[in-house]
Amino acid sequence: MTVRTFSGPSSSFHATVIVPGDKSLSHRGLILAAMARGASRLRGLGAGSDLAATISCLTRFGISVDGDRVESGGIGSWGEPGRLECANSGTTMRLLAGAASGRPFVTVLDGDASLRRRPMRRLVDPLAALGAHLEVTGDGTAPITVRGGTLHGAAVTIGIASAQVRSAVALAALQAAERAVIDSPPGFRDHTERWLAALGLGAWQSATAFAIDPGAVPPLDLEVPGDTSSAAFLWAAAGLGGSEVTTPGVSLNPGRTGLLAVLAGMGATVAATETGQVLGDPVGTVTVRGPVRHGMQVDGPLAVRSLDELPLVGLLGAIAEGETVVSGAGELRGKETDRITSTVALVRALGGDAEESADGFRVMGSGLRPGKFEAAGDHRLAMAAAVAATVAGTVEVVGIEAAAVSWPDFADTLERSWSSR
Ligand code: S3P
Repeated sequence: MTVRTFSGPSSSFHATVIVPGDKSLSHRGLILAAMARGASRLRGLGAGSDLAATISCLTRFGISVDGDRVESGGIGSWGEPGRLECANSGTTMRLLAGAASGRPFVTVLDGDASLRRRPMRRLVDPLAALGAHLEVTGDGTAPITVRGGTLHGAAVTIGIASAQVRSAVALAALQAAERAVIDSPPGFRDHTERWLAALGLGAWQSATAFAIDPGAVPPLDLEVPGDTSSAAFLWAAAGLGGSEVTTPGVSLNPGRTGLLAVLAGMGATVAATETGQVLGDPVGTVTVRGPVRHGMQVDGPLAVRSLDELPLVGLLGAIAEGETVVSGAGELRGKETDRITSTVALVRALGGDAEESADGFRVMGSGLRPGKFEAAGDHRLAMAAAVAATVAGTVEVVGIEAAAVSWPDFADTLERSWSSR
């Protein structure tokens, strides 16, 4: 376990940061390219061990991935992979379970101790509606056994706003005999739906219902936008530190930008300018100028749209005036750690005042002080703890190496940003 001590900046900073390629979009790009017949090019793919897990699993199906090039004989050429190791990556496991559902063989998906604790039963019924057979453990966890085969169309209603479950169903439905329609509560990142619509493989029927038209995925040639959820750590540093950070070229998918609404709602200055689109999904430049001033309530679709960023909302709440209350975020308990418990533990480890609720947490704005935090293998908590040093002074992060799951170069990038004027 690596311990790294972060000492925040002595004055406000002004940084422009290029973040790695978006993790959600990189997983989708790799899997769709693997389903396409021919050569695809995915420039600016994200870094990190979650994407390495997707690449290594795709290789086991017989796909060749070399840098930004993916070469496949098409979904029909996928070979039986045996047991796939998804490491720490829930997106790898859930999306590949969907893609494998239409293949005429058995695929077993397993992961590390953290991934083996995460909820997987949520995939079983939606994929069964298309005719797929999945088995999970008695606890509803991995390993997942997918007995793939012929799939049919269906109207699939998913009870949670999970982009991973929706995407798993979509990747299966591309291989079905008839059209399928997916619906769920709102707030999810709709990257998969936007890309499929742009590729002529689906269409929206309402704000949340999306129809998938089975068909061949064409090879892709695209530039992966920057990772909004990585940029979020720098936006939060600006919000904590009364500083300014600009991140060009990040995904502005509405399912990803919840933290920007929270930062603005807490009194920071936020500007997001769309500069283009990739397959119908917006990309742009974001500038955040802090500090945040007052607490706020985060719930409903806004909680879903900022789910991965809620640990940062905990830190922002700790330095804002008054109370910040997050609710409707029970999904946080099924992440790499129980992020309700670990966010509250982080705020408290730094002298803040926070408490859990069943589906969220409450933080009182009482400031952050130097302290030590153990990340327990959760990349977002490790990075949030480092970001807290922006105002807390000195923070010792035990297990900072977890950041490599999504952003191997994070610690150096954060420290460089602190010293930019
Ligand atoms: C993701 C969807 C979200 C998010 C996760 C990545 C994706 O999970 O929290 O980090 O790429 O589809 P859920 O689908 O479980 O909400």
